[in-house]
Amino acid sequence: MSLKLSGRRIFITGLSRGIGLATARLFLSEGASVFGVARDEARLDAARSALASVAMTPDHFDAFPLDLADADAPARAAEQIAERWGALDVLVNNAAIMTEGPITFEDEPPGTLERTLEVNLLAPFRLSRVLIPLLRAGREPRIVHVTSGAGTLAALDEPGISSYRLSKWALNGLVRLQAQHLVGHIAVNGLDPGWVKTDLGGPRAPGVVEDSARGALALVLEPFETTGKLFNDGHEIAY
Ligand SMILES: NC(=O)c1ccc[n+]([C@@H]2O[C@H](COP(=O)([O-])OP(=O)(O)OC[C@H]3O[C@@H](n4cnc5c(N)ncnc54)[C@H](OP(=O)(O)O)[C@@H]3O)[C@@H](O)[C@H]2O)c1
Repeated sequence: MSLKLSGRRIFITGLSRGIGLATARLFLSEGASVFGVARDEARLDAARSALASVAMTPDHFDAFPLDLADADAPARAAEQIAERWGALDVLVNNAAIMTEGPITFEDEPPGTLERTLEVNLLAPFRLSRVLIPLLRAGREPRIVHVTSGAGTLAALDEPGISSYRLSKWALNGLVRLQAQHLVGHIAVNGLDPGWVKTDLGGPRAPGVVEDSARGALALVLEPFETTGKLFNDGHEIAY
């Protein structure tokens, strides 16, 4: 049986639950080596137990607690990845937060945008920046920023989750900008995972995390030349 991700070294943020966990599971089942982070140690331990049985060998998977909003988080991640692999093939910037409730940005609690940008934009920016040398040492290296249909230009006109929308719209900008600067060296694309049932997506979401994981796999298997684009479930979508 040929596995689609044999030999690929993949770092995933926010892999303790939701889309990150499902993506880690699918990537491991396709032969990848997966390493990742999230904040809550108990949930990370539960994820570790759940994923251990999917990994080809115990060496194929590990995770460590890290708050990506901490100033030293990017350097700590880079140190751990350098020690483990000395290179990186795929970075999946998946971790994010979302404040639900108010219809307009005026009613969001003060500091919501700042906190949201810290995790959803600045953390992916800082992490990808610090990991560029390790990615350059990888094979057909790629960055996947997990964005959202809520962050497209058209979706900015819709009500609710203002700070989240703005953070994902800016993240889409980061996809475009990094893709230009790194063309020929590191492919950079965005993944809209669809609206799926998770703590963030809520129980009313029509999809399930396995749908998002399938989209993540399709994106990681895109030709290396594919860069600066947004995808949903294997199909390119508009900014
Ligand atoms: N679910 C949807 O319908 C949907 C739709 C569109 C886009 N997305 C995007 O898909 C991605 C995953 O969403 P999800 O629904 O799976 O969310 P989720 O269920 O809330 O999971 C988020 C993950 O990120 C981690 N995380 C959050 N803040 C962190 C921080 N500061 N440092 C490190 N890890 C952190 C969480 O673990 P800890 O809390 O323990 O840190 C958890 O593992 C996000 O980028 C989201 O915007 C989701």
